[in-house]
Amino acid sequence: MFSFQKDQSLISGPSIKAWLFVMLAGIVVVVLCVLVGKYFFFSKKTLPVPPMDALYRQSTAPIAERVEDLLSRMTLEEKIGQMALVEKNSVVEKSDIAEYGIGALLSGGGAKPAQNTIEGWYTMIIDFVGASRQSRLSIPILYGVDANHGHSNVPGATVFPHFIGLGATGDVELVEEVARATARELKATGVNWSYSPTLDTPQDIRWGRVYETFSDDPKLTGALGAAYVRGLQKEYPEGTSSSSIFVLSTPKHYIGAGGMQWGSASNENFRIDQGTTPVDETMLRETYLLPFREAVDAGALSVMVGLNSWGDTKLAANKYLVTDVLKGDLGFKGFAVSDWYGVYEIPGGDYRAAVTAINAGIDMVMLPFDYEAFIKNVVRAVRKGEIAEGRIDDAVRRILRAKFSLGLFDVKDAKLLMSDMVGGEAHRQLAREAVAASLVLLKNKDSVVPLSQGVRHIRVAGSAADNVGRQSGAWTVEWQGIDGNWLPGGTSILAGIRNSAGSAEVEYDLEARFSSSSKKAHVGIAVVGEVPYAEGWGDTENPELSTADKETIARLKEVSEKVVVVIVSGRPLIITDEIPSWDAAVAAWLPGSEGAGVADVLFGDKAFRGKLPLPWPARISQLPISPSGKTQDGSVSLFPRSFGLK
Ligand code: BGC
Ligand code: BGC
Repeated sequence: MFSFQKDQSLISGPSIKAWLFVMLAGIVVVVLCVLVGKYFFFSKKTLPVPPMDALYRQSTAPIAERVEDLLSRMTLEEKIGQMALVEKNSVVEKSDIAEYGIGALLSGGGAKPAQNTIEGWYTMIIDFVGASRQSRLSIPILYGVDANHGHSNVPGATVFPHFIGLGATGDVELVEEVARATARELKATGVNWSYSPTLDTPQDIRWGRVYETFSDDPKLTGALGAAYVRGLQKEYPEGTSSSSIFVLSTPKHYIGAGGMQWGSASNENFRIDQGTTPVDETMLRETYLLPFREAVDAGALSVMVGLNSWGDTKLAANKYLVTDVLKGDLGFKGFAVSDWYGVYEIPGGDYRAAVTAINAGIDMVMLPFDYEAFIKNVVRAVRKGEIAEGRIDDAVRRILRAKFSLGLFDVKDAKLLMSDMVGGEAHRQLAREAVAASLVLLKNKDSVVPLSQGVRHIRVAGSAADNVGRQSGAWTVEWQGIDGNWLPGGTSILAGIRNSAGSAEVEYDLEARFSSSSKKAHVGIAVVGEVPYAEGWGDTENPELSTADKETIARLKEVSEKVVVVIVSGRPLIITDEIPSWDAAVAAWLPGSEGAGVADVLFGDKAFRGKLPLPWPARISQLPISPSGKTQDGSVSLFPRSFGLK
């Protein structure tokens, strides 16, 4: 009969000890094998350290020769390490940077140092750079951020208008200056790489990234994009030469992003972002390639490949577009970097995805997480002949060329320089000018704006009136931005209005709950708009004013003789039913930290000169709108591209 007691004895006594011993020994052997394997796999200890006068270390030698010299000294593992772009919070041990020879680090949106200050950034980056220089060949890392509208990761930096506002200025010189100022603020904190400008041309305002773009017009986008590339890359402070570049620029997202079809998002949380671009090759070239051609001609040394698909293929897997068209037809000599985790969106598992992307022409992979597995997979693929070593050499050559062009190898003793430029007066002034130049006047019944001297009593209301966080939008200290009036050094639109109003009385209430018994104000200014959002989180079926904002405008109308509505948004909003009851309407986009620029124009210190960078749809059924202005349902848009009253 079954005896529980007897059964117990089976699993006790000397035999279990023996089993345990065998298991433990097994574990020890496995751990040892892993450690020894890892040592041999990544060890460079036996390789010589090149002499101090090695050609690649000579700052006066031609870049092409330095690249070849360095490349000839690199092991396969060291080369593949250079192809890895890692999010800084994914670095397990700082020593890994040298051990794996990692090529570049980034701060994803909101990935800040422990102390989110200029010094905090500088110390963090210098520390990472120092760690990279501990490698055998002492190759410095690139450090990248998304400077989408200034060095907006750092509280206290100048936050310029988002690109859509710059698009509305249409001003090539101004955009180049904005980029140059941004580059100085980046450089002051040790950042040498920015994932900008965005050259996508949006056809559908339901997309959450419209504000990251200049325009739906490829020509305007190309001209402003090229200016932005020049601004970031070309600045020659003392001690540098005109053959070097200042901050590495990355036009993105190659190619067809902006033309994705509503509902095609590959990410289940999104609707259109990261979706499929359903156009033929002629359209792809005419609409989406042109801005990249301009940016490449302007000297861009890296380009980011998008997360969207063309046909069934993710861009990062499309050899024809990345290798034949970008590097071949356009003659791009820089490196192609994939977007966030984008390579792993290619089907077939991590190994196959990396092989496909690198063979398609991706030179650097924004992993951004597991570098060890990536390096192992790619080493294995080369050993198996699935990736030719020549492809790896080509990728690394491109990356090294950018690093030498930036002068990264030649930095002697790094010091905190130009920190007074971050959020400094000159840059804020420039941002304020850019804001003023970006405002588009959509309606102006009886010339209510600019406000005349006779306007003695103004009432201000609305969710974006006293909210620097909202007027700055996303990619401001946090990836998704921070709603609220908090940004250090920033000026809200209300503060700007108060300042410009002189002796006129300015009353403010968020919801326009003013006493209705008192006299009507001469003018009510409603500053309304969107809550910050980034990427697919901003995809929305109905881009329109919130009910709260609509009610605020209605209340303000009751207590003001005229109503001026200032729309703070990342895209045109559907206002067809509301605009007839407003006296004036102004599109202010996402102006950033210098809200005073809005008041400068409302009060006539500066003229309205912005023009719509994209058509303003009358209704959702018009979407998408083609680059030639053709709406989906054939009806006319509310305002065409380039519209803007004077
Ligand atoms: C975005 C890029 C950005 C990158 C790094 C991605 O999700 O698509 O535009 O440069 O993240 O933050
Ligand atoms: C990062 C962003 C990135 C995004 C992509 C976020 O966690 O902070 O930089 O663009 O992920 O999904």
